[in-house]
Order: sequence, then C-alpha cells, then structure tokens
Amino acid sequence: MTLGFLGTGAITEAIVTGLSMPGGPAQPIRLSPRNPSIAAGLAARFENVTVCASNQAVLDTCDTIILAVRPQITPKVLSELHFAPTHTVISLVAGFSAVRIAGLVAPSAAISRAIPLPSVAQRRSPIAVYPPQSVAASLFAPLGQVFGIETEAHLNALSTATSTMAAYFGFMGQISSWVAAKGIPEQQARQYIAQLFAGLAGTGLEESGQSPADLAAAHSTPGGLNEQLLRHLTDHGVFQTLTDALDAVHRRASGMQPLPATSPKSE
Ligand SMILES: NC(=O)c1ccc[n+]([C@@H]2O[C@H](COP(=O)([O-])OP(=O)(O)OC[C@H]3O[C@@H](n4cnc5c(N)ncnc54)[C@H](OP(=O)(O)O)[C@@H]3O)[C@@H](O)[C@H]2O)c1
Repeated sequence: MTLGFLGTGAITEAIVTGLSMPGGPAQPIRLSPRNPSIAAGLAARFENVTVCASNQAVLDTCDTIILAVRPQITPKVLSELHFAPTHTVISLVAGFSAVRIAGLVAPSAAISRAIPLPSVAQRRSPIAVYPPQSVAASLFAPLGQVFGIETEAHLNALSTATSTMAAYFGFMGQISSWVAAKGIPEQQARQYIAQLFAGLAGTGLEESGQSPADLAAAHSTPGGLNEQLLRHLTDHGVFQTLTDALDAVHRRASGMQPLPATSPKSE
C-alpha cells in the first residue's frame, strides 16, 4: 500500500507520526504540499515520507488516499482532482457522509470514514471506522484501539463525542488555575490534576462493568466533598448544558446543519 494524504495539517501530522515512528509499519507515505512547513518537517523526520508537488500527484502515485482537508473546502479541493476506480478513499472529513464523499471522488467506489484523534501520534487513540471491515480498520490498527462502527448515525454520534476534547482541557485548566491561585506552583498544580484525571481514566477503563453513575457513587463519600461538587454542578445545570452543547454539535457532525464559513483548527 502507498498511502497518500490530501491535506497536511494537525491530524495528518499525528497519523504520519504514529505510523512512521520506530515500531510502526512505516509504509511509503506521500503528502500533499500544504501545509508546507508541516509537510517538510514530516519528510525530514521520516524516511518513508515524501512531499508531492500537487494534490493530483498524490492521487497519481498512491492507491490509498486519506482525505484530511477541512470540511469547508472539501468540495472545491476534490472537484479539481481526477480520482481513479482503483483508489481506496478514507475520509476524515467531519459532517460528510460516505455517499456525499463518493459523489466527490467518483469513479472511486471503495469509500470509508474514520475518526482518528491527535493521540494517534502516541498510538493510544480510539479510532472509529465505518464500515467496520474497511481498509481503514487495518490501517489504523497500529495507532490505538479501532472501533468498527456499523452505521453512519453511530459514527456521527461518536464524532460528536470527540468534540469534548478541548472542553476536557478547559475543565482541567480551570481547576489547575484555581488551585494555583491558592499559591501552589502552577506546574505542580497542573501535574497533580493531570495525574488525578489519568487515574480516573484508568478506573473508567478497568471498571467498564460499572456504570458512570456507580463510579460517581463509589467516588463520593455521603455528605463529602465529591458529593457536594457533583450536586452543585448538577443543580446549576452544568450537565444539562453539556447535553445541549452535544445536541448542537451533533447537528453539524451529522451534516444536518451547514458549516460556518470559518472553523476552529480541529473538528
Ligand atoms: N484534528 C483532529 O483531531 C481531527 C480528528 C478527526 C478528523 N479530523 C478532520 O480532518 C480534517 C483536517 O483537520 P485538521 O485538524 O488536520 O485541520 P488543519 O490542521 O487545518 O489541516 C488542514 C490542512 O489542509 C491544508 N489545505 C488547505 N487548502 C488545501 C488544498 N487546497 N489542498 C490541500 N491541502 C489544503 C491546510 O494547509 P494550510 O495550513 O496551508 O492552510 C492545512 O494544513 C478535517 O476535515 C477534520 O474534520 C480532524
């Protein structure tokens, strides 16, 4: 397999790093020229990576193509290219159904979708792929845990869930800053909170038979500090606000709502 990327931004950098680091498959990879500094950096770091002169040159030299441009420009970028029936296409573009992508990359017929996350660079990402038995599943297997997803509706729900990454760091930052304001060195506060959450994430994985509500109860002494904070947040609508925000993101992630003209760096 020769793997080509259309769009060399944040997620491409993470995937290429995960695939090319020692111990990875390190298959031949060809990058589209934008972003030039990310593309040049990856080609300098990894022997298996080269930068093509154009997007079309990626198609002409690769059999498997990963679409990794932003949703807003995807139709225009693809409309300028000539795909072949032999191309296998894996789309990372949020909010674009497989049918919509198929219309943009015809005559290629082998289309799948995937949601790799930035932690593919460290090979510890959950990676949702649709359909489950697609080439995307084996391609991403070295980069974390692949979740084969049976329907696009389910994939879009998981895509929505990934929108919580930045908010997670917002939550962590708010707590760290609050603690640091009490006089603890900022770095120590940050390290402590990160370790606290790492431990909880480990518990969530190990105790997968227990519901989140059970785990919350197990981490709350009756009348204690955890119970107080959880009740305060619940009573003030924080979790309802989270649900409302997920509903709003879901309308975009499932293509029900048009995308704004500009978008944040990560989808
Ligand atoms: N980031 C994530 O965690 C993540 C996860 C899953 C899926 N995705 C999806 O992956 C896609 C890319 O996301 P991203 O976060 O990597 O965005 P990004 O960092 O903005 O990367 C997109 C890249 O596309 C390049 N580009 C712009 N115009 C181009 C053109 N005409 N031809 C080829 N490349 C062009 C940009 O180059 P310039 O910098 O020169 O403009 C930029 O480097 C999105 O559709 C997103 O929904 C992202």
